Amino acid sequence: MPNILVTGGAGYIGSHVNKALHSKGYKTIVLDNLVYGHSEFVKWGNFFLVDLQNKDSLKLIFKKHQIDAVMHFAAYAYVGESVHHPSKYYNNNVANTLNLLDTMLECDVKKIIFSSTCATYGLPQELPIPETHQQSPINPYGRSKLMIENILADYQIAYNLNYVVLRYFNAAGADPDGIIGEWHEPETHLIPLVLQAALREQGEVKIFGTDYNTKDGTCIRDYIHVTDLADAHILALEYLCNGGTETIFNLGNGDGFSVKDVIESARTITQREIAVKEFQRREGDPPILIGDAKKAKKILGWSPSNTCLDSIIDTAWGWHQRLA
Ligand code: UFG
Repeated sequence: MPNILVTGGAGYIGSHVNKALHSKGYKTIVLDNLVYGHSEFVKWGNFFLVDLQNKDSLKLIFKKHQIDAVMHFAAYAYVGESVHHPSKYYNNNVANTLNLLDTMLECDVKKIIFSSTCATYGLPQELPIPETHQQSPINPYGRSKLMIENILADYQIAYNLNYVVLRYFNAAGADPDGIIGEWHEPETHLIPLVLQAALREQGEVKIFGTDYNTKDGTCIRDYIHVTDLADAHILALEYLCNGGTETIFNLGNGDGFSVKDVIESARTITQREIAVKEFQRREGDPPILIGDAKKAKKILGWSPSNTCLDSIIDTAWGWHQRLA
């Protein structure tokens, strides 16, 4: 089986994909700088504490291991922070990715799966959003990811680097075995915050904006289970290994749920009180993001299995109870 280099493998999505790769028999070399990742999440593969800024270490790892393909998750992903510290985002997400890509080329590794985001689209002009939608990101995080998408396209033409870009909608849920899950410090994401409030049975969840032009005035998002994302990565890898050429896929459920839907579902699943407080809109939040993932279903044969919001929140609840 091929050796896969997983950058950011101690993070939320990277660790779930690392687990899925192992269950399929792949060998992994996992890199993470542990700034936001958790060493406890790297239970599979060979782990190296490395920052992608360190090109010499990267090169040593590539030379020592016979890497067949790279899955690149390592990135900072706090939208709000990116607005106030763009330098942090452009250095880590763009400059360090260039180190990775150039090291790959030096070591003749020509396949990469890149974690991109629906944040590259900006404000949707149509729904659900297809891959061909214009890309006008409204924050530095989205722009940093779009820059890499463009770099990959240039590297493909000039250096024959083959890639799949996966644009995630809102990753959610947790490993059903309860070994890994969503754990951010600081936590800013809706589902973990709602479940933390349910666990404590005190404090309140802030609803950012109740005056959007949506069914209940709150923002709508397309929540996609992290294990369904992991399945899509395996399929994308098989696609590249079987001679597939550069392409881009949205990964979402094609279904939108409002902030209030999420809170209601969490009340049902947890059977706990969850107090809420209405706040003003959060800077940089598009009112609705729903993805069209027909292309991934058609070309990769991807078939998400945790499409119901309650089941997504149920796996997340299992994880948060264990984490507490
Ligand atoms: N929200 C609240 N209260 C909270 C936290 C969030 O009302 O305490 C709302 C947000 O305003 C948003 C929705 O819940 O409308 C979802 O927010 P998250 O922070 O959970 O997720 P985002 O949609 O902001 O972010 C996700 C990913 C990003 C990605 C982005 C694309 O986490 O990496 O989608 O828009 F860039």
